[in-house]
Amino acid sequence: MTVTAARPRRREHRGSDTLAIALIGAGRIGANHAAIVARQIPGAALVAVSDPVADAAQRLASRLGAEPSAVDEVLARPDVDAVLITAPARSHTDLVLAAAAAGKHVFVEKPMAVTLADADRAIAAAAEAGVVLQVGFNRRFAPAFAAARSAIDDQRIGTPQLLRSVTRDPGPLTADPARIPQWTIFLETLIHDFDTLCWLNPGATPVRVHAFADALVARDAKASGFLDTAVVTISFDNGAIATADASFSALYGYDVRAEVFGSAGMVTAGTARTTDMTLYDAGGIHADTSRRDTDLLHAAYLGELTAFTDAVRAGTAPVVAGEDARTALSIALAAIRSIETGTAVDVAR
Ligand SMILES: NC(=O)c1ccc[n+]([C@@H]2O[C@H](COP(=O)([O-])OP(=O)(O)OC[C@H]3O[C@@H](n4cnc5c(N)ncnc54)[C@H](O)[C@@H]3O)[C@@H](O)[C@H]2O)c1
Repeated sequence: MTVTAARPRRREHRGSDTLAIALIGAGRIGANHAAIVARQIPGAALVAVSDPVADAAQRLASRLGAEPSAVDEVLARPDVDAVLITAPARSHTDLVLAAAAAGKHVFVEKPMAVTLADADRAIAAAAEAGVVLQVGFNRRFAPAFAAARSAIDDQRIGTPQLLRSVTRDPGPLTADPARIPQWTIFLETLIHDFDTLCWLNPGATPVRVHAFADALVARDAKASGFLDTAVVTISFDNGAIATADASFSALYGYDVRAEVFGSAGMVTAGTARTTDMTLYDAGGIHADTSRRDTDLLHAAYLGELTAFTDAVRAGTAPVVAGEDARTALSIALAAIRSIETGTAVDVAR
């Protein structure tokens, strides 16, 4: 994909002015982020929405009081301070490069890139342009996950030894496996877990990865390379050992959890429950769950977008930087190589 960049321009946000934000990619997660910016972040305004599907841009923009606009036009607008890139994964790097070249601050959904070379190009472009580059690892902003990290920082569990991260996308799987890009389970799903595990093991570097995966949900799709179920083990240079596992079909709802066991205790975070309600009746014990990540993790999405606008205003480093996204990607790429070779592999630097 080619995106023509506007003239490079370093951008400093001016004090208390409203931050003008444009959305690039009016799909499922883009609609969620756009609504948060338009309705829930004081001092931020959604001014434009871009999508090659003109109808999608038009519908979302008119619902939220923004203008539908082509990407080139958005990047050329001097009043646009920042962009949220929520287009499909394989377009992210080109869009980050174009946005940075135009002097726009960038929030990009995960994965920031699908190769390490592209991750390096994105990081370098943002640094060169002097713009904030934040990546969408929203789990860090979920209150329970943030509290777990604080407990680890406060030495409440001692030295992390065993870590676990779980993602269960809600079932039944309705998407056509043929339309899901190859390796999505590692590059777009478990990449959240890889970031979470690194972040909950502060200062440690992932060293070696062994992955196992199968198509246990859409068995017929396996022949064409589709994988819907995976377990990945990761060893770190501080001795800690981690596992991440994912399924594309949790019939009880969206489910995201983490656990860190250390020399002095253990901390856990996350639940499939969307409320604290527990119903006891003749049928058993019941809780509220959701089929939507945007329900279960709403506070996390609001938190990451608020942190992004705060970083832009203050001119400070983002909480989730391009380098963090590169590390998570390096684990995902190692997991793919592990599946291809059937062995444990080193994480490429
Ligand atoms: N952080 C999270 O929890 C989370 C959740 C869901 C999706 N995501 C990520 O967000 C990204 C989008 O996922 P989605 O589920 O919203 O996908 P989607 O298919 O629903 O939406 C993508 C949209 O981008 C548009 N598009 C395609 N090429 C474009 C381009 N070059 N410029 C602008 N728009 C373009 C498409 O027309 C579509 O409307 C993926 O990288 C995905 O991994 C993150």
